[in-house]
Amino acid sequence: MASGDESGAATIVDPIATSPVYPRGSRVNESGRLEIAGCDVVELAAEVGTPAYVYAEDDMRWRAREFTRAMSERSDDFEVLFASKALPCTAAYGLAAEEGLSVDVASGGELRMALAAGVDPARLHLHGNNKTEAELRYAVESGVGQIIVDSLDEIARLERLLDRSQRVLIRITPGIRASTHSYVQTGQEDSKFGFGLADGHAARAVAAVRDAPHLELVGLHAHIGSQIFELEPFTKAIEVLADFTRSVELQPELLNIGGGLGIAYLDDDRPPSIDEYVEVKVAGVKRTFDPVPRILIEPGRALVGNAGVTAYRIGTMKEIPGVRTYIAVDGGMSDNLRPMLYGSRYQAVIADRAGEPPDTSATIAGMHCESGDVLIDDARLASPRVGDVLVTPATGAYGHSLANNYNGVPRPPVVFCRDGEARVVVRRETWDDLLARDV
Ligand code: LLP
Repeated sequence: MASGDESGAATIVDPIATSPVYPRGSRVNESGRLEIAGCDVVELAAEVGTPAYVYAEDDMRWRAREFTRAMSERSDDFEVLFASKALPCTAAYGLAAEEGLSVDVASGGELRMALAAGVDPARLHLHGNNKTEAELRYAVESGVGQIIVDSLDEIARLERLLDRSQRVLIRITPGIRASTHSYVQTGQEDSKFGFGLADGHAARAVAAVRDAPHLELVGLHAHIGSQIFELEPFTKAIEVLADFTRSVELQPELLNIGGGLGIAYLDDDRPPSIDEYVEVKVAGVKRTFDPVPRILIEPGRALVGNAGVTAYRIGTMKEIPGVRTYIAVDGGMSDNLRPMLYGSRYQAVIADRAGEPPDTSATIAGMHCESGDVLIDDARLASPRVGDVLVTPATGAYGHSLANNYNGVPRPPVVFCRDGEARVVVRRETWDDLLARDV
C-alpha cells in the first residue's frame, strides 16, 4: 500500500508493522513475506512444519516490562503476576521469572511446569475453584507462597493438611458483571468462582480462615473477567472490595485485582493501553484503601496474546459459486478453540504475500470432522493458493493452552523467535505420542 509523504514521493506503508494485532517488530520483509522477530515465516513453516505457534520472544518481554514500568510509576509496593493459563509452557514460565514477574498457576499441572522452570515457589499463587487434596498437598510441600481459597470446603481441606503456617488469599466474587463474553465473566454474583458478598459467604470465609490455626489471611483476590475493554467495572470491583474489608475489619497485606485486559484480535480493535488499565486499578485502590495494600495484578492474555501467531498451510480450496470460497488449513479447532467456544473473530494473512492488498474473501475452515470447525468466516486474503502459509495473528493466549487431540491430531509446537533465530520450546506431538498413555 502506498501513501504520499510531505515531499510528494510515495512511501510504502507496511500493513503488518502498522497493525496492533501482530507482535512488535513484525513486518513485511524484502521478499514480501511475513517476518516475525526477524524470522521469515514461510521459511520457518518449512523448517518446523505447520501448524505451529510462533512467538516473538521480545514482544512478551516488552509487555512484561511495560506492566512493571506502569505499576512502578504509580506504586512502590506491587507485584505483576503472569496468569500462566494463557500460555502454560516451561519456557514461558522461565521468561516470566526472568522478567521479574510472579506467577499464577491454576492446577497441579501448571504448578509442575512452573517449578520445572525454576520459578521461586514463594512467588507462586495457586488458584482453582476445586483444587484436589493432591494438588493442595503438592502446593504445600513445594512451598507455594500463596493459595487463593475459593470455598469453605477447601478452607477446611487445606487446614487439615497443614502442620505449619500457609499464606492464603480469599477469592471474592464482587457482584460486578464485566462487559465481555458470558463464558469469561467471573465477577458476577451467579458464578462458580469465589465467595459472594450479598449472601454473607465472603464474611463466613474470613471467619473460617481466621479460625483455622494454620491459615494466615494475607489478602483478598478478585478477577471479574477476561478480554475486557471497559475499565469502569474494575473501579467498581475495587470499591466493593474496600467496603467489604471495612465490614470485616480486615487490613489486607495483599490485594490481587486480577487480570482481564483485552487485546486487539482485529486491526480495528482498540483495547485500553497497559497504562490506562494500570492507572484505573492503582488509582482505584489508592482512593479506597487506607492503608494501601500491596497491589497485585494478574494479566495473562495481555502479556502473550499479541506476541504469538499461528502458521498453517493451505491444503484445499473450494469455490461454491454464488455462495462462498472455502480455504482449508491443516489445523483448526484442535489448535484454536476460541472461535467455536466464544465466537471470537480473527483475521489472517498469506505469509507468502504479506505486503499485497487482499483481493479475495474466503472462509477459513479447519481439517476436523465438524462443520463448526471454522476459524474465520470472512477472511480477506491476497491471492491465496494451495501450498501457501496462512497466518492467523493474536493466537498467543489460550491457543496452546486450549489445544486438544480431536480427530487424533497431534498438537502443534511452540516456537520462540528472537533476532532471526527460532527455537522450538515445545515440540510437535507425534502420532506415537497419541499411543503413549495406552496400557
Ligand atoms: N486471574 C484469574 C484468576 C483468571 O481466572 C484469569 C483468566 C486471569 C487471571 C487472566 O485473565 P486474562 O488477563 O488473560 O484476561 N479461555 C478464555 C479465557 C479464560 C480466562 C480464564 N481466566 C479465552 O480464550 O478467551
